[in-house]
Amino acid sequence: MSNPDGDRLFMKSRHRVKTYGEVFTPRSMVDQMLNLVSHDLEAGEGFVDKTFLEPAAGDGNFLVAILQRKLAAIEERLDPAIWSRESLFALASIYAIELLQDNHRDAQDALVNEFVRFHEGHGTRCSSRTDLYHAATFLVETNILHGNTLTGRSPDGEEIEFSWWTRQPHDPSMVKREPFTFNSLREDGAFDFAIYGSYEPCPVQHVHRKANADA
Ligand SMILES: C[S@@+](CC[C@H](N)C(=O)[O-])C[C@H]1O[C@@H](n2cnc3c(N)ncnc32)[C@H](O)[C@@H]1O
Repeated sequence: MSNPDGDRLFMKSRHRVKTYGEVFTPRSMVDQMLNLVSHDLEAGEGFVDKTFLEPAAGDGNFLVAILQRKLAAIEERLDPAIWSRESLFALASIYAIELLQDNHRDAQDALVNEFVRFHEGHGTRCSSRTDLYHAATFLVETNILHGNTLTGRSPDGEEIEFSWWTRQPHDPSMVKREPFTFNSLREDGAFDFAIYGSYEPCPVQHVHRKANADA
């Protein structure tokens, strides 16, 4: 029988298990859990934009599985002409926080690698010379954050800041970035958008080029 986890270890050290609760979930269990939200993830209307937050990302096993399943659904259900744009919105829908620096880096790398693999598998250039690649890495760097979920703060003590990536109603390729703090999610659903400068809408493929309009 094939093993989807290959030679993956589920624990790196006893110290890390004891100190950080670091035990990785096998892929079969990740898939069983994602099956519970299959409608939002890959089947229902607007599935590309349905958001997921991993509060203890580890090395990204849930994040990669979520991206793989969204990309598979994009491939199956949408016109190839919009795969690039929709794949970026899929990335924009995946958020995470991870405490340990090595896991955080691995989680970011794993997501970018999965994104590149999808496009190169379909003959679409996604090298570091393309906007597609730079938009993808920007979204991953902005959404997959290093910090402590319990305090809502980065290792420097700054508030963890996420961004909402809102599709523009008149043009589904345009996105508007709206930053908010993670801690504001805990306050009766009140996003603190207002305290941040706003960003002008831009094509999602150019999201990495967009400076803060109020800067
Ligand atoms: C049990 S592992 C789970 C990893 C992954 N979610 C999985 O299921 O395979 C827990 C992860 O949470 C991280 N972690 C522990 N406390 C955390 C905190 N307060 N904030 C963010 N991440 C934390 C650990 O560093 C570790 O990578």
